Amino acid sequence: MITIKSPREIEKMTESGQLLASIHVALRDFIKPGVTTNEIDKFVEQKIVEGGGIAAQIGYEGYEYATCTSVNDEICHGFPSDYALKNGDMVKVDFCIDLDGAISDSCWCYAVGELTDEHARLMEVTKEALYRGIEQAQVGNRIGDIGAAIQQYAEGEGFGVVRDFIGHGIGPTIHEDPQVPHYGLPGKGKRLKEGMTITIEPMITTGTWQMQMDPNGWTARTRDGGFCAQYEHSIAITADGPVLMTDQETVK
Ligand code: MF3
Ligand code: CO
Repeated sequence: MITIKSPREIEKMTESGQLLASIHVALRDFIKPGVTTNEIDKFVEQKIVEGGGIAAQIGYEGYEYATCTSVNDEICHGFPSDYALKNGDMVKVDFCIDLDGAISDSCWCYAVGELTDEHARLMEVTKEALYRGIEQAQVGNRIGDIGAAIQQYAEGEGFGVVRDFIGHGIGPTIHEDPQVPHYGLPGKGKRLKEGMTITIEPMITTGTWQMQMDPNGWTARTRDGGFCAQYEHSIAITADGPVLMTDQETVK
C-alpha cells in the first residue's frame, strides 16, 4: 500500500534529510587514502547522534552498522571494516536517519584520490542518471518513466543498470511501497501522486549489471569485478515538482 504524506510529514522528513545531507557534506573532507571504512561508519554514527537522530540501519533486518560502505566492485550493503581506502578506490556511503520518527535515506559516491578516467566517468554518469530519474518524478507521470529515463541514459553511455536492488517508498519506515526500479518502460507502472515520498538510487556498473552475493548474505558485488557507482536521494512528489529532501545544496 502506498501512503500519501501530509505537508507536515514531508517537512519532518526534510529535516531528517537535511541532517543526513550535512553528514555527506562533512564526508567530502573526511574520506581520503588511509581512512578505514570503520572510521567512516563511526564518523557518521557520531554525527547522527550529535544531530539528535537515530542510526536507523542498525538492527534493520539484522543489519549491524550505521552505514553501508561499499567499495569498488561492491554494489551495495558493504560492511564497514578495517579496510584502509587507497588511491583509486571508489566508496559508496549509504545510510538512513530516523529523526523524531521521520526517516531519510541517501547514498553518495566518493572518489579516493585519483580515479581512472573510466571510473571518473562512471561517477558522473551515475549522478546524472539519478537527476534524470528525479526529473521524471512528477505528479501524473508513472513509475516506469523514472526507470526508463535512467536506463536509457546509462546504457546509452555504455554502462550497466543493476536490477537486483531498487528504489522504494520511504516514511516512518525505511522500505515502503512503491518499488522504484532503475529500468523499465515509459508510461508503465503506478501513477505518481502528490504526497508520495520515494527514493531513487541507481547502481550503475562499468560492465555487467549481474551481481554475486558474498557469503555474508548481505554484500552484493559485480559478477565481473567491474566497478559500481551509486547516488541516492529521498524525494517528495509535490504539485511544484520533485523536492530533494536530502539535497546537499540546501544544507545550512
Ligand atoms: N540505505 C539502504 C537503501 O538505500 C538500506 C540498506 S538496508 C540495511 O535502501 F539493512 F542495510 F540497512
Ligand atoms: Co534506499
